[in-house]
Amino acid sequence: MHSKIKVNLGKLKLKNPVMVASGTFGYANEFKDLLDLKKLGAIVTKTITIKPRVGNPMPRTCETPAGMLNSIGLENPGIKIFLQDKLPLLKRIGIPVIVSIASEESPEEFVILARALDKITGVAAIELNISCPNIQKTKLIAQDGQATYDLVSKVRKATKKPVITKLSPNVSSISEIAQAAESAGSDAVSLINTLYGMSIDIKQRKSKLASLTGGLSGPAVRPVAVKMVWEVYNKIKIPIIGMGGIMSAQDALEFIIAGASAISIGTANFVNPGAAVEIASGIKEYLSANKIKDIKELTGSLKI
Ligand SMILES: Cc1cc2nc3c(=O)[nH]c(=O)nc-3n(C[C@H](O)[C@H](O)[C@H](O)COP(=O)(O)O)c2cc1C
Repeated sequence: MHSKIKVNLGKLKLKNPVMVASGTFGYANEFKDLLDLKKLGAIVTKTITIKPRVGNPMPRTCETPAGMLNSIGLENPGIKIFLQDKLPLLKRIGIPVIVSIASEESPEEFVILARALDKITGVAAIELNISCPNIQKTKLIAQDGQATYDLVSKVRKATKKPVITKLSPNVSSISEIAQAAESAGSDAVSLINTLYGMSIDIKQRKSKLASLTGGLSGPAVRPVAVKMVWEVYNKIKIPIIGMGGIMSAQDALEFIIAGASAISIGTANFVNPGAAVEIASGIKEYLSANKIKDIKELTGSLKI
């Protein structure tokens, strides 16, 4: 049986539901010799800001049981260099390029970035990283429903490109934030960003990360992420991009059954650069084996 795996996230059309997550795939060039990039559903770039950022001091990653902590701190070359040096290579791949944007300074910077990207052909959508745990701010935009609503509304007015709002798991009710993003005009939501975490070297009695705390990702977070996708799916109508510890097609299918229309591969790219492509074919095999004609039938099909 030939199952359909095309998905539409609002106006954004993907030939398969498997994307690579922001910050774990650079600007794709780093991976070009390791897998067939054309086989990905979409690429989400490392988050970019207006000005270049050097990121947080080293060490800024460490391994943890079934996962990793990172505190990269949004290192990136800034939008000017991104458009000049990184985007041309990304465009050549011929699959949708989703540009992740953020600002530590002010919500206005998101608007400036969105406006600048609005004019650029080859940018398929914009992802709003309002949930990075590794910046100095005490409260994230994604931890406040009103702030999320205000920011997404402003960005919505600044661009006609599809807007994806990336949510944080570090909240008491992620569905409230998802609803705020939806009512402000977000075309889709992506979840989850990393969970706050810390790991200590007991010999030195020092944190393993120079910035003390970081964001936890990898298989350790998967059950948290699946539960959040399911919770959000029951509260909103716009599509969900699910992520958090997806290492295999089986893991990806959990997210789809919970309610995700598409999924994103993050930490797995560091372990197996071919993971996303393998996962896309694994999903297809599952659909055929279970005589499911279209992946849409599987989204949110959890039996209660
Ligand atoms: C090293 C590293 C860097 C990341 N950088 C970003 C980033 O720049 N922007 C962003 O939105 N998410 C970033 N993330 C979060 C991932 O996109 C993803 O939401 C998270 O890691 C959960 O998925 P995973 O468990 O499959 O990695 C980063 C994650 C890691 C591990």
